[in-house]
Amino acid sequence: MEKVKQLKIPEADPHFYLPENIILNLDRLEKLSKKHPVNVLIVGKQGCGKSSLVRQFSARYKRPLATFQMGLLSEPGQLFGEQRLRAGETYFQEFLFPKAITTDGCVIHLEEINRPEHPKALNELYSVLSEDRSIWVDELGQVNTANGLVFFGTLNEGPEFSGVDQLDAALRDRFYTIHLEYLPNIVEQKILTLKASVTEEQAAQIVSVVSGLRSNPQDPMTISTRHSLMVAELVSAGATIREAFIYSLQINREVLESVLLSLHLSQEEVEISHENGYSAF
Ligand SMILES: Nc1ncnc2c1ncn2[C@@H]1O[C@H](COP(=O)(O)OP(=O)(O)OP(=O)(O)O)[C@@H](O)[C@H]1O
Ligand SMILES: [Mg+2]
Repeated sequence: MEKVKQLKIPEADPHFYLPENIILNLDRLEKLSKKHPVNVLIVGKQGCGKSSLVRQFSARYKRPLATFQMGLLSEPGQLFGEQRLRAGETYFQEFLFPKAITTDGCVIHLEEINRPEHPKALNELYSVLSEDRSIWVDELGQVNTANGLVFFGTLNEGPEFSGVDQLDAALRDRFYTIHLEYLPNIVEQKILTLKASVTEEQAAQIVSVVSGLRSNPQDPMTISTRHSLMVAELVSAGATIREAFIYSLQINREVLESVLLSLHLSQEEVEISHENGYSAF
């Protein structure tokens, strides 16, 4: 029989940065969770560090982490398990969720909590997240939640997501909320040097281009921290700043050139391959 996997404490990332007031609040919420389970919603644009925050919360307080993709749920009941067939007999295969909610101190990450495929798929969460903290599952009986649980819901906000699947007000009402923003330039630069091993100068150039593209009046782009890191990694692997942007983003070349020009970065033109040349790969 399939074994439910062991829940692990994630590894700490020494280079994950958060505003101090958010750190303070996370400390408070962790303290509160020792009295009763706590639900925290992390809201922010794509790639701003939501999932990392949840992982690093678990790492910081040495708690096991279990992550669930709510976007994949297509019907109620799917979190707990499913009926399966073996040698002509049906049996109930229990999933990770019942194990997570009965593990003391577990951090439970509900990813994309606003986007289940089926609107009723989250119904079973209500009782787990609200005061009763207990749920009846036909195949498992009464499941009571463990001590010290912290539920994190993450949800993407931004122009691409607005109006798509707003989180149900009753569900949202059960959560504390933390808004996570993209990092200030100076911190983003530091992270690029630490995580992607670019030089300080390269990091400064990348972040100026990123910020030029983000605030470009014709066509402002959303560029996530994840994406600046991808650009920086290409640079650390030998690409020029221009090449790194071209290969990382779906970008309007004119806009890129004008941002590069305004930063006096255009001299470092390096042809992407030999002029007019093709080589066997
Ligand atoms: N504040 C930060 N400090 C350090 N690294 C960060 C920070 N924010 C994001 N990153 C890095 O950016 C990448 C993307 O972060 P993460 O996956 O946590 O974002 P997300 O908000 O969950 O993205 P999505 O919206 O796609 O779910 C990771 O490699 C992460 O380490
Ligand atoms: Mg995420």
